[in-house]
Amino acid sequence: MSPNPKQPGLSLEIDGHIYGFEAGETILEVARKNDIYIPTLCHDPRLKPAGACRTCLVEVEGARRLMPSCATRAESGAKVSSHSPRIERHRRGLLALYLTDHTNERQSRERKRPNQLLQMAQDLGAPTDWPRLQNIRTGRPDDRNPYLDFNPKSCIACARCTRYCDEIESVSAITLAGRAGETTISTSDGRSLLDTSCELCGGCIDTCPTGAMAEKLPITRQEEHEDELTKVRSTCSFCGVGCQLDLNVNPDARDGAGRVIKITSPEPGTTSNDGNLCVKGRFAYDFIHHRDRLTHPLIRDAAGQLQKATWRQAIERTAQGLLGIKQEHGADSLAFVSSSRCTVEENYLMQKISRAAIGTNNVHQCAAT
Ligand code: SF4
Ligand code: SF4
Ligand code: FES
Repeated sequence: MSPNPKQPGLSLEIDGHIYGFEAGETILEVARKNDIYIPTLCHDPRLKPAGACRTCLVEVEGARRLMPSCATRAESGAKVSSHSPRIERHRRGLLALYLTDHTNERQSRERKRPNQLLQMAQDLGAPTDWPRLQNIRTGRPDDRNPYLDFNPKSCIACARCTRYCDEIESVSAITLAGRAGETTISTSDGRSLLDTSCELCGGCIDTCPTGAMAEKLPITRQEEHEDELTKVRSTCSFCGVGCQLDLNVNPDARDGAGRVIKITSPEPGTTSNDGNLCVKGRFAYDFIHHRDRLTHPLIRDAAGQLQKATWRQAIERTAQGLLGIKQEHGADSLAFVSSSRCTVEENYLMQKISRAAIGTNNVHQCAAT
């Protein structure tokens, strides 16, 4: 066994190769770090392992049963197989069972979200001709909340949504309810999310692997499927935290000018907000193409009417006005106030204009109070 540079002595074997690991890591974490593919559905690196979906089972030498790699700690000296005829047979059978009461491809695409179960079943060659079972999960079709839609027919009861709501949001607005095939995602007394502690963060949509939880607007507007949109990484502009988000853009809309169809969060672990967003960051995007939105500077003419101007004209007029006041009343007659909605770089520039260009320390930012 080769020495482990992170923690001497901690090494295990996966598919005939030796990998070092840190104490506490799971077999899945060691595999992912080393680009070994193990399929998962109920796993989300932000959540405690649940071991619920059984797609990630692997063989561990000496263990009688297949073990869930997402919930099994790596043991030094262990020998693990991530692929074998036994594992392939298990995965195909399991996925075929999931499919027996699951939405088909067409129904799934109406959710406008990727469906990892259907994709995985196709990739791993799961049989699709097993007899169908009636899906008896119930949903909340009359939930009047404006953002979140739940389709029980696409749910596989993996509990990623409820665990996210509990462990990340600390809200517990949704819960698993019912038993066996009736197990579904419910709220207290089946209320609308608007009548619960839900903060409409949309994290349950983000983590759901099948699109059972989906955003209402793209469905009702019959927008393009998420797979057909172009993701453009951006910074949320609603507060100064700077959460990273992905604008999902149809580049051909508006005669090639493009249109933002929806917002999704980047993969967990890749940005400082770890894939989490708040209600504004995730859902408040309709303003982007609103007809009342200012898209160019305006300057008042002699009659007091606002006239369209270029940025150069607007900046020159502003500079003239500020310098005129400074000349007449002194630099300290001016004050500069910036916003916590600006980036740190923009706030820095505001104080630089104040101190270096105008010559006053009268500068403030609203978050400082
Ligand atoms: S939107 Fe957020 S708070 Fe509401 S149910 Fe989903 S995860 Fe919980
Ligand atoms: S709604 Fe989605 S995340 Fe929640 S249990 Fe069903 S499949 Fe899993
Ligand atoms: S990902 Fe391991 S049991 Fe679901």
